[in-house]
Amino acid sequence: MESLLLDFLKVTESAAIAAKPWVGSGDKMAADGAATNAMRKVLNQLKMDGTVVIGEGEIDEAPMLYIGEKLGLGEGPKIEIAVDPIEGTTSTVNGQGNAITVIAAAPKGALLHAPDMYMEKLAVGPKAKDKINIDAPLEENIKEVAKANGKSIKEINIYIQDRPRHQEYIDVARGLGAKVHLFNDGDVSFAVAAGIKNLDIDMFVGIGGAPEGVLQAVALKCLGGEMQAKLVLRNDEEIRRCKEMGLADPNMTLRHSQLVNSDDCIFAATGITDNLFLNGIQTTSHGSYITHSILLYGKEQHLRFVESEHPVFEVV
Ligand code: FBP
Repeated sequence: MESLLLDFLKVTESAAIAAKPWVGSGDKMAADGAATNAMRKVLNQLKMDGTVVIGEGEIDEAPMLYIGEKLGLGEGPKIEIAVDPIEGTTSTVNGQGNAITVIAAAPKGALLHAPDMYMEKLAVGPKAKDKINIDAPLEENIKEVAKANGKSIKEINIYIQDRPRHQEYIDVARGLGAKVHLFNDGDVSFAVAAGIKNLDIDMFVGIGGAPEGVLQAVALKCLGGEMQAKLVLRNDEEIRRCKEMGLADPNMTLRHSQLVNSDDCIFAATGITDNLFLNGIQTTSHGSYITHSILLYGKEQHLRFVESEHPVFEVV
């Protein structure tokens, strides 16, 4: 896997550059299509035998990198790939912050095969690893995390997506005196941010996309943090889809090792627009692009930030 690190960086950089012209355009399909095509083109040049296990949403009508799609030259490691060519499509086309292109990979059999449905998620950084339990009340988790992070509850920073379905989390956290930071779209980067030590984020909690959950779990594994999850089953059709994807008990609590069960995993993301830890794409006066990415490898647990300049002729 390690030999693919720089290749995966190139994948997210290319997708972000392809999405850049669509920032502020209002055209979600075009933005997603451009990023997806760029991602597929670079992935198909890599020495690997890759299969997409987390692709674009089943309900998304953009040209997908679909679940089961084979990628790569067919030689090299057999790997499973999770992609989100644009995480935060709405933010991208509305010219707002927090849009990234993202990919994760692990050896065959290591990633949860999750359908495109909602997932309840709880994520923390390295100090609070092994101290959380998604089955316990949020109040208890906040107290445990405060203890683990050596803070009073009033100093705890919790990130929650601004959605009516999260009102109870918000009330519980604020009721305890913790600080709640609300964000609009793109929950991958906020869960990842909980694993980055110098950002002073103690917890990410909420219900978001299950495919995004697998990407988050890989990043947190690489950062030494922890994530736990539970699928949110809203009807029989969702239960059927889970079973079809091999989940014998869709109601089960998913511990970190059930989301990703290998340290031999890679996570790469490139900023399209600015977020908490990555700048978006910048254009230089001579027309080249500067990209900002995060590159993680589970066996090393090194946090790499990569800034690259792409001459115009290199752009996919
Ligand atoms: P898109 O990439 O499809 O725009 O998804 C963004 C996102 O905010 C995810 O990060 C999050 O998991 C999900 O949407 C939340 O879904 P909803 O908008 O239905 O609350």
